[in-house]
Amino acid sequence: MKRKESAEQYKQLDKVIDESKGMPGPIIQTLHAAQKVFGYLPRPVIEYVADKLGKPRSEVYGVATFYHLFHLTPKGKFQLKVCLGTACYIRGGQMIVDIINTELGIGIGNVTEDGIFSLEVVRCIGACGLAPAMMVNDKVYDRLVSPAKVRTVINQYRVLAAEELKQSA
Ligand code: FES
Repeated sequence: MKRKESAEQYKQLDKVIDESKGMPGPIIQTLHAAQKVFGYLPRPVIEYVADKLGKPRSEVYGVATFYHLFHLTPKGKFQLKVCLGTACYIRGGQMIVDIINTELGIGIGNVTEDGIFSLEVVRCIGACGLAPAMMVNDKVYDRLVSPAKVRTVINQYRVLAAEELKQSA
């Protein structure tokens, strides 16, 4: 999904940068704030932060890529994280990825057009005994041994998204 950062978002970021001037650890703090504003850290935003802080772009980019808490690609409202650690891979983790591909039309690292779902792959989420497993945001779903079970999880969140949309209309 193609997103464009808005002037309003940059204005919000400027405010945070002005407030954090002179504070310790400005890069991490500012990237954190930027991610909150934009939802993730696209390259233009990282470069903007670097320029505003007067730091080399390479340094700020290095920080953004080093810490797992920073996302360089957009995330969906519901982040699907399929485990492809050894136990899950052996027991069918790839099948989960394939079903998500088919059902939602997104590959690893992508977000659905409506911004509802994103897909990523992780290595072990601590549910090896109940593999294969995946997470949706922070919730773990295990024993996803059949395509039907994976579809049930996806549909549950489709319903949730539709209900939330209805409520906000
Ligand atoms: S390998 Fe998937 S939960 Fe451990």
